Amino acid sequence: MYRVRMNGEFLGRTPGLTLRTFAFRLDAVLRYVTHFRFVALLTFLAICSYGFAQAADPAWLRYDVVKQSSSTLPQTIAVVGTGDVLRTAGSELVRALGTEPRRQGAVTAIPAKNALVLGRWKDVHAFFPALKPPQALAEDGFWLKTVQRKNGKYWLIVATNDRGVLYGTFALLRAVAQKKDVATLDEAQNPSAPIRWASEWDNLDGSIERGYAGRSIFFEDGKVRADLARVSEYARLLASVGINACSINNVNADPKILGQDFIPQLARVSDAFRPWGVRLAISVDLSSPKTVGGLSTFDPLDPQVSAWWQRTVDSIYKQIPDFAGVVVKADSEGRSGPSQYGRSAADAANVIASALKPHGGVMLYRAFVYNHHLDWTDPKADRARAAYDYFPPLDGKFEDNVVIQIKHGPIDFQVREPASPLFGAMKQTNEAIELQVTQEYLGQQRHLVFIPPMWKGVLDFDMHVNGVTPVKEIVAGKVWNRRLGGYNAVVNVGLDHYWLGHPLAMANLYGYGRLAWNPDLSADQIAKEWTTLTFGTDAKVVDTVSRMLLSSWRTYENYTGPLGLQTLTDITGPHFGPNIESSENNGWGQWHRADAKGVGMDRTVASGTGFIGQYSPEVQKIYEPVEKCPDDLLLFMHHVPYTFVLHSGKTVIQYLYDSHYAGAEEAATLAKEWESLHGLVDGPRYSEVLKRQQYQAGHAIVWRDVVVNYFHKLSGIEDAQDRVGHNPNRIEAEAMQLSGYAPVNVTPWETASGGKAIACASQSSCSASTRFDGKPGTYNVSVQYFDQNNGVSHYELFLNDRLIDSWAADDHFPSDKMNGHTSTRHIFEDVQLQTGDTLKIVGHPDAGEPAPLDYVEVVQPIVPEQL
Ligand code: GCU
Repeated sequence: MYRVRMNGEFLGRTPGLTLRTFAFRLDAVLRYVTHFRFVALLTFLAICSYGFAQAADPAWLRYDVVKQSSSTLPQTIAVVGTGDVLRTAGSELVRALGTEPRRQGAVTAIPAKNALVLGRWKDVHAFFPALKPPQALAEDGFWLKTVQRKNGKYWLIVATNDRGVLYGTFALLRAVAQKKDVATLDEAQNPSAPIRWASEWDNLDGSIERGYAGRSIFFEDGKVRADLARVSEYARLLASVGINACSINNVNADPKILGQDFIPQLARVSDAFRPWGVRLAISVDLSSPKTVGGLSTFDPLDPQVSAWWQRTVDSIYKQIPDFAGVVVKADSEGRSGPSQYGRSAADAANVIASALKPHGGVMLYRAFVYNHHLDWTDPKADRARAAYDYFPPLDGKFEDNVVIQIKHGPIDFQVREPASPLFGAMKQTNEAIELQVTQEYLGQQRHLVFIPPMWKGVLDFDMHVNGVTPVKEIVAGKVWNRRLGGYNAVVNVGLDHYWLGHPLAMANLYGYGRLAWNPDLSADQIAKEWTTLTFGTDAKVVDTVSRMLLSSWRTYENYTGPLGLQTLTDITGPHFGPNIESSENNGWGQWHRADAKGVGMDRTVASGTGFIGQYSPEVQKIYEPVEKCPDDLLLFMHHVPYTFVLHSGKTVIQYLYDSHYAGAEEAATLAKEWESLHGLVDGPRYSEVLKRQQYQAGHAIVWRDVVVNYFHKLSGIEDAQDRVGHNPNRIEAEAMQLSGYAPVNVTPWETASGGKAIACASQSSCSASTRFDGKPGTYNVSVQYFDQNNGVSHYELFLNDRLIDSWAADDHFPSDKMNGHTSTRHIFEDVQLQTGDTLKIVGHPDAGEPAPLDYVEVVQPIVPEQL
């Protein structure tokens, strides 16, 4: 065996560069690389850390368990081939298993002793001629196989392409991290679909549309950031779950992204992605030929326009040869589009797709095309119908590299929606499902919502369009033999240390990648897998965190918009806190049609908008008859009186009350469950999650009160359990003794207890006092206040003139007003109170924020056994 010993860096980028890093025997290596298969050999010490710089939290890629349990794996890695991505796979193994390279070199045969052998199957096969994969390996698929030979044992990680080898490497490490037996392996996996993309809605100025975790990792001040270290780290996370492309800018695209000065900057991002097999994509604005190209038109059928797209796309590929393609949002929410020239989505998609086609690029055209100026007084108007009304007539007219990207539900990432009927409607068109990891309508990562159970509901939903045809099979192209199709999810990571803000929210990114790879995985499997990789194998941690994750979507639904009401959040505002009426009386079409008698959108064929008629007859049978329609989508499909009796036996109104009280209690339990892990999770992550769970527990009460009070007033129907409107431990701020503070009406009324708060508008400090008339004992004192984003008020809590607590309203909620976004609480725990004690809150306003207060609640702490 010929061996070159190296003393330099691991392998370089290309054979040419590689050789330059070798300090000696240059000609010998050159000769061998030319004539033989190239094998990079790497052995490592299992003791020291290799020191991979990492700026952000490693999320699920923590290798502590791998290092402890990797003893069955060999300490020699043979990488057959020279590609960048192969090199990444080798170095990831070093990072996970060892890790300090002890010896590195190039050889022409695999080592005679135990080794991990990585490479394309066509190259590795030559060393193991007798082997055959158990199934054909598709693009990006891999085969993990152990082979015993007389001198050694080999763990093969092989694939048809380098990316597949990297995915196989991560799969092996995932298994080791879960303490699975990897001594004998023979497992081949193929991805469910070729398109497995992430989308980031980053603006070129560094802000992120619907991003809740800091500024962009890609852009700053109109340019690509100078330091792209976080981009490489992000690509590593994406690769580890099989994501193979990432579109990096807002779908509401700034045309400047296609400027000639911008493309070289994009090339830098693609360089950071490339070692991880992640291809760069971008969102483009259809008006670009006019706005950037200086043409007088962007009519897709104008020859000048098609020539412009071809020139621009060619110039992208010159600088980014592996460019994945583009995403387009057109004729939607004020974006430019082909309708301006009387053209169709097919005309618009095809002009760009034709330019991409010679280079192998794809075009994802979004089906999110609707009129946001609908007539809300028209009972037949329905935004949910829009995509189906528009796209099916175009079936068969799209180029074969166009994929129609369909949001999972017909509206917009609400807490529960049915699967979009469009999935079942286009036999001759490629389709991808669009999901949202960023929790735009799901608590914006201040609330814990593990979304895979919701996604599974849609992916597994049988559209009944050609026998058994679940959505996952349709988007995989299997139902109508489409070559392209798959997944794209809006992720919106930011510079926050934990990527998405809430450390547990990363379970959604992980779950997205795993489902795009294999939609047959269960939510339970994903939750346990992610928890183990993220927090280790301690059974209590795995059980507790996965239980929290798996219950969280239902919990959130329970205290927001159950029964298919949609989320009930502020539709015309930041989509965070409650604002029930914001859905109505406007053209956005997220109507729930609540009135004094009943609630819900009538989407039936018989008397409603006809939306249900867009499904196959079998699916119509599920939704059309009101008595059959599942409870959890009832109000999405039907308008019913509040007294309508559900399958559960409860009336609609009582269910609304009960689910909100249950949901708020469940949210409190999430916080307590997390507290039970004190000492079992490292300090920083423990505190970060605790802070968010405690906030969620309080905000769930805000949600609960808003929704139950609203429907109570509207329907005039009492809560059978007498909870609504009765808060025995609550002292309204406006009922306290005020000095300087004055009562104010809050809008919408239901976002403040009793419809009112108090504000300190004209003094430098104000106070509100109350006498405690309860029994002597230990209590928690909760102060409900509004934390606006236009000032940092300070508060002090006094007990009989003794200062016992103080805090600042310094969180960053998305509003400068008193409302459901800003209502929050501060709890002072375990205070000893005597009958007749005085509690006083002093508020110090700041800037536009008048130290507002809503109420004080004095309650006895819940002892753990009561949980
Ligand atoms: C939602 C979201 C917008 C986004 C749009 C889209 O409406 O609130 O910010 O632009 O979806 O998906 O295009």
